[in-house]
Amino acid sequence: MAARSSERNRAAEQLFAPVAQSYDRYARLLSLGQDPRWRDALVERVEARPVHVVLDVATGTGAVAIRLARRYGCRVVGVDQSAEMLAEGRRRVAAAGLSDSVELRQARAEELPFEDASFDGLTFTYLLRYVDDPACTLHELARTVRPGGRVAMLEFFVPRHRPARLPWEAYVGVGLPLAGSLIANGWAEVGSFLGPSIRDFWERWPPDRLRGAWEDAGIRDVQARLLSLGGAVVMWGTRGE
Ligand SMILES: C[S@@+](CC[C@H](N)C(=O)[O-])C[C@H]1O[C@@H](n2cnc3c(N)ncnc32)[C@H](O)[C@@H]1O
Repeated sequence: MAARSSERNRAAEQLFAPVAQSYDRYARLLSLGQDPRWRDALVERVEARPVHVVLDVATGTGAVAIRLARRYGCRVVGVDQSAEMLAEGRRRVAAAGLSDSVELRQARAEELPFEDASFDGLTFTYLLRYVDDPACTLHELARTVRPGGRVAMLEFFVPRHRPARLPWEAYVGVGLPLAGSLIANGWAEVGSFLGPSIRDFWERWPPDRLRGAWEDAGIRDVQARLLSLGGAVVMWGTRGE
């Protein structure tokens, strides 16, 4: 992996290293069981074919990469900056019997080690809150996708309507930090980090601004769908010519 690493990159590395081995179990619990459904909604937007190669950025332990390979029978390359998350991912890929179709590599989203237009599609999940410059990163992601290829993102969202917003505030403000502190090593930090991180991201990058950044990166027909009363969002579009 190239040497350039920002303070934000390092903070993300420190956040995920201690939780890598228990990530899948507790991420599901802390999303109140919604995570798998959200990932399915993301994967459906990719519309890959068996001959395609899809890049999954911030692949972590490979949950989306595995789903893509199973759903489409395509090849998947997953990249992540965390050696610990990738080690767990490789174990899961092998256990799923997908070592021939899913390859995991260490790389940062800001500096992908691939030629322009190398991939037929691209996914990224819970990534943009961890990069310094989401617009610049979107350019880098889009660069690796061939014209006509799908780009799709899954991210946590802040519910806009009061009936969902109030329980969300209570959950990320109290429930999540408390649950994190009760679980295991490293999860207390994740539990108290998530709410402010999600809120801060969407304050800086409201959906219309983010959609503009996708378009500036050369992605057209950008659409978004809220999931679970606005607790998450899937955004997708098609790489232009
Ligand atoms: C919340 S996890 C999501 C993992 C996976 N996409 C999933 O759905 O479970 C966020 C991942 O982003 C990775 N990450 C954070 N910043 C990154 C960057 N700049 N480049 C690549 N990966 C990054 C972390 O190491 C972590 O594995």
